[in-house]
Amino acid sequence: MKKQVKTAAVLFLLACVSMTSCNTSKKENNNNMIEKVSFGKLPDGQETELYTLKNASGMEVKISNFGGTVVSWTAPNNKGVYEDIILGCDSVSGYLKGVPYFGALIGRYGNRIANGKFTLEGKEYSLAQNNGVNALHGGLKGFDKVLWTATPIEGEEPGLKLTYTARDGEEGYPGNLSVEVVYTLQKDNSLKIDYKATTDKTTVVNLTNHTYFNLNGNLDSDILEHEVTLNADKFLPVDKTLIPTGELKPVVGNVFDFLKSKKISAGINDTTDTQIKAGGGYDHCWVLTDSTKTLKSAATVYEPKSGRVLEVLTTEPAIQFYTGNFLDGTIKGKNGIIYKHRSGLCLETQHYPDSPNQSAFPSTVLKPNETYQTTTVYKFSVK
Ligand code: BGC
Repeated sequence: MKKQVKTAAVLFLLACVSMTSCNTSKKENNNNMIEKVSFGKLPDGQETELYTLKNASGMEVKISNFGGTVVSWTAPNNKGVYEDIILGCDSVSGYLKGVPYFGALIGRYGNRIANGKFTLEGKEYSLAQNNGVNALHGGLKGFDKVLWTATPIEGEEPGLKLTYTARDGEEGYPGNLSVEVVYTLQKDNSLKIDYKATTDKTTVVNLTNHTYFNLNGNLDSDILEHEVTLNADKFLPVDKTLIPTGELKPVVGNVFDFLKSKKISAGINDTTDTQIKAGGGYDHCWVLTDSTKTLKSAATVYEPKSGRVLEVLTTEPAIQFYTGNFLDGTIKGKNGIIYKHRSGLCLETQHYPDSPNQSAFPSTVLKPNETYQTTTVYKFSVK
């Protein structure tokens, strides 16, 4: 009897060992596999998909082919706990209810164009005025609301290639524009976004990503105690409709100075500042001190409770720092969480807003035979 028990115990142990090793190797294999699941149907019946990129250290980024949207993103805190650090919705139906560009790819022209009009090679183009009198983020059905063609890229640094061709005249812009965006989850806990576009007619292009970060890991909190550094010695003051006045204003001596790390709460409610008043907080474009097209550090955000640090590197000349001022507690996001005022911050790397109408700004014109190409990296670490 005793012998039988012993044998059973040995067999049980062996089974456990083999199960564990099975699980481990399955996990190892799975780490490099890109999982694809349904993300729900569009009103016209088309299926949308959700892809999961995972790296070896455990970071997970979920991206949908609807809008090229980054839906969730886990990053470790200083105790090694992975939590979702971005705002988003549980399925595509949430994104169809008019959420403010959560995680989405923005184009053909990110940010505002004054009065929805611009002139190119002597011809005036009219766009939808979808933000007061201005055009915002590519129009009524910008790149955030279209279905992209997705191709997973398996490997140690998994990626997702997304392509979309906007037709000549789509949302009022000239030229058939072929766009390719590649998201790559790198070993060092960074997500690289490579943007490329070509056109068959002269057009304007300004692509970005509109992820709302809350590094706290508790998406039910606000971002006011996040500490921000912006490597930008100037910013673009705006008029009442948030169109740049054309001035490049030094940040030194006012609440727009983030050259040294500073809590967002230090200046965001300073309503004696006319620019804070205009934006209802920070909603401005900062001009990076380093204007070269190399990949350089543009911004760093540190969240003291979790110890999470996010660094943003880009080849772009500017960054729109938006503190979620228009979030008003009416949107229910992932897991039923209500996104309150300023519960997320955006760091949208880009060219200056309204460049098509402001000739002194770096050009956003793309001609046939030219290739638009930019890269932005969002890199996580802990302190
Ligand atoms: C703009 C904000 C706008 C937000 C959501 C940001 O890029 O600067 O003014 O409210 O996008 O649409």
